[in-house]
Amino acid sequence: MIRVLFVCLGNICRSPTAEGVFRKLVAEEGLHAHIEIDSAGTHAYHIGHPPDARAQEAARRRGVDLSSLRGRQATRGDIERFDYVLAMDRENYENLLDICPEGFEHKVRLFMEFAPGWPEQEVPDPYFGGAAGFDRVLDMIEEASAGLLEDIRKRL
Ligand code: 4NP
Repeated sequence: MIRVLFVCLGNICRSPTAEGVFRKLVAEEGLHAHIEIDSAGTHAYHIGHPPDARAQEAARRRGVDLSSLRGRQATRGDIERFDYVLAMDRENYENLLDICPEGFEHKVRLFMEFAPGWPEQEVPDPYFGGAAGFDRVLDMIEEASAGLLEDIRKRL
């Protein structure tokens, strides 16, 4: 079993979107029994909240249902338990390293490492912007998800 955790700030926009997109891809490839997928935020603002309505709507238009997901905060234990702890941006990355138990730093990475052809290395925070920001986030997440699955396949 390979375990993947997507991490952003609030766990209501980017990381639940990544969780939903990656779950769908993994299910389509018939690998759901081999890959565990979850998401979390580095902050506590949105614990227990469903994904932002704009994130849900943008994902729904691409056939991804985020409605059952609920926000939670990332923990030290998550970094021990998950094999891939994937930060959406450098702020999330630094926040994760702040709580990372010694010896587990190699698990914390930027998600966009898996989309080497994409010009940006950070998935931008869409929370304070318009609907177009959520579509761009989805484009980036779809590309990085495909690269991540190829990386995981080497370990299965
Ligand atoms: P996320 O977006 O990190 O992609 O879930 C945000 C959600 C909420 C806030 C910031 C970013 N906030 O400041 O409440």
